Amino acid sequence: MNRIYGIGLAVGICVVYILGLRVCVRASEAPVTFNRQIAPILYKNCTTCHHPGGGGPFSLLTFDDARRRGQQIMQVTASRYMPPWLPEHGYGDFEDERRLTSEEITLIQKWVSTGMARGEAADAHPDPHYDETWTLGKPDLVLSVERPSTLRASGSDIFLNFVLPYPINQTHYVRAMEIRPGTPQVVHHANVLIDRTASWRHQHPDNWRDGVPGMELIVDAGNTFDPDSHFLFWKPDTPALVEPVGMPWRLDPGNDLILNMHLKPSGKPETVAAQIGLYFTATPPSKQPILLQLEHDSALNIPPGAREFIVEDQLKLPVDVDVLGIYPHAHYLGKDLQAYAILPNGQKTWLIWIRNWDIDRQSVYRYRKPVFLPKGTTIHMHYIYDNSRENVHNPNDPPIRVRAGNRSVDEMGHLWLQVLPVNTSPNSLDPRLLLEAAWMENRLRKEPRDTLALYNLAAAETSEDNYARAVQIYKQVVEINPKDARAWNGLGVGLENTGDWQGAQQAFQKASDADPTLIDAIFNRGKSQLDHGQISEADQSFRAVLRQSPNDASAHSGLAQALLKEENEEAAESEFAASLRIDSQNLDALEGLGQVALSQGQSAQAAEYLERAAQRAPNDSILRQQLAIAYAQLQRFSDAIQQLQQAQHLSPNDPQVHATLSQVYSANGQLPEAIAEEQEALRLNAADADGWNNLGVLEARAGNSAMARDDFEHALRIAPDHGPAKANLARLGAAAKAP
Ligand code: HEC
Repeated sequence: MNRIYGIGLAVGICVVYILGLRVCVRASEAPVTFNRQIAPILYKNCTTCHHPGGGGPFSLLTFDDARRRGQQIMQVTASRYMPPWLPEHGYGDFEDERRLTSEEITLIQKWVSTGMARGEAADAHPDPHYDETWTLGKPDLVLSVERPSTLRASGSDIFLNFVLPYPINQTHYVRAMEIRPGTPQVVHHANVLIDRTASWRHQHPDNWRDGVPGMELIVDAGNTFDPDSHFLFWKPDTPALVEPVGMPWRLDPGNDLILNMHLKPSGKPETVAAQIGLYFTATPPSKQPILLQLEHDSALNIPPGAREFIVEDQLKLPVDVDVLGIYPHAHYLGKDLQAYAILPNGQKTWLIWIRNWDIDRQSVYRYRKPVFLPKGTTIHMHYIYDNSRENVHNPNDPPIRVRAGNRSVDEMGHLWLQVLPVNTSPNSLDPRLLLEAAWMENRLRKEPRDTLALYNLAAAETSEDNYARAVQIYKQVVEINPKDARAWNGLGVGLENTGDWQGAQQAFQKASDADPTLIDAIFNRGKSQLDHGQISEADQSFRAVLRQSPNDASAHSGLAQALLKEENEEAAESEFAASLRIDSQNLDALEGLGQVALSQGQSAQAAEYLERAAQRAPNDSILRQQLAIAYAQLQRFSDAIQQLQQAQHLSPNDPQVHATLSQVYSANGQLPEAIAEEQEALRLNAADADGWNNLGVLEARAGNSAMARDDFEHALRIAPDHGPAKANLARLGAAAKAP
């Protein structure tokens, strides 16, 4: 590799510095020694990689190690080739900036030019300890690559993706992660992606265990809005990725982690057997960051020989954000990578500047202090590519035309930012939706038929309950790509919510035709069938989901609901129980078991399930009504009344709440309150014959025979064959005639 150092060095007693300043070491000055000044510099900045078994090509731990390479150390530090650090100083203030101060560089130069003394034993610093153990202690969960693969001794770099299924049947929040690549010497960097629907594994059924080649990958984000939010990036001297307090990331049953590794042959065959250690926390996230991307891949079409090919993108922020981290990314032709923000007042804020891009040294950079960017700020990406022979990294000789792509001979130009929305009011929409929509609209401005952007935009609209708009966009996607199963499924959800359930079911069917393994589509079809009275079809759909995914708690609940409607209470109960065993918080299962217990007269059991359900869904008025019935059966009238008052608050125009409340008051001997509630129920629904009959009974008990008679007659005008009203009227007549 030819390498051009920043300056020519004159080594000797007098040393030429970058600024051209000439400093001479005077004999009277205290000598620079390894033990006193040099070891601390190396231990802080170099030995994280340069230790036996580390990512660097040799160790610099001991005095002998360092002295043997003294000249070289002096050169690579003066030119700032080492430690590897790409960002320009002063263009973004980053945590763990791996950069020597000019004083430190001077000390190294003095040490080398004065003969590399070891120094006094009393000055020696304890050398840092590196071993094979986890730096944060024993992880809560260790995932290992199933089949270690062998990297050949030589040849070009390899990019491999290993799938690590998350094996636990329970959601966990990850506060820290450590990657042990097995052989750090060959792993240049590794990225971890969360595949929410195991889509990558399904796409590569034959070889996912052995590692699938590919530099970049796209994984499914699933149906709920749950955008990627964390940089899970590892490089050889990264100890462990500890997330800030309040920002753990989530892993659900059925998720896969994908380990995307950049491997470099070392001269001998090496076994790559990576492990990921995960550390959990019980506390769910209280802050929700999101990753945003700028790119313009469709503009990447670089003619051979072009020395300054520019690719730009910009994104205007719809909300205030704190930028927490940044990850610029290009392949081998990238040269000068700039990112900056233009604030609404016109002020320019640098986010990062890399003058001499080197893919082998790519990294995620975290800001020492979050960079605040107000709403209306435009973020700019400005990348310059060099496709000439002079670019020492150019993989093609002679240069050829290069476009965007996944292989290392293709090019890429991405700028990722981790941002945390700030200054948002607590009741407003999830601000990440606005960011995601702005990002996708930006992509569509560049590429109107970008189906991924259309899909994500529609998903964001769905999360905002803008179903009609979502339907419009999903229709565009399936028009461009009729085989896009996820888009058909999304279209179905949109249609269902705009009232076209027949259209919805057709869309779910199309989704299954395009991809029979997309269980969300089968599940959604089942839900729709259940809601529209097609009970045996729903039963079949949920069973089809369970054949593919036996541990799907929602499908067990769905099947149970269908069984309930088929009046197979026993089978329903066992399906609800199966659901609850998988997901102890499954709302449908808790509610369903509560309902079954109620109908079996097991009021205490019913109350217990329904209380748990109400805790999960405190704003569900129906649940509170059911819970009130259970309480009333247990003679806990004041608890029942309290639940119903809350239900009333949640749905003030539901006559049923008032009718039930009336019955509870009546059972508790509060006759006037009972009458008032029944009157209110009838005000909301005057056509309820049962209600008029009930009101009559209450009036009769209160001694208002004339009013009771009116009420029973009212009931009979609505329903002439109303048996109880007839009987009550007759009894009233008999009582009136009695002497
Ligand atoms: C992030 C890991 C890392 C850190 C930190 C690091 N190095 Fe290196 N170093 C490497 C790797 C990898 C190579 C070999 C490949 C290359 O040149 O990038 C290397 C190569 C070298 C070389 C040989 C250069 C040549 O011309 O072949 C020297 C000398 C060196 N490092 C010294 C240092 C010193 C001194 C420091 C601290 C001031 C340091 N390194 C910090 C990873 C690191």
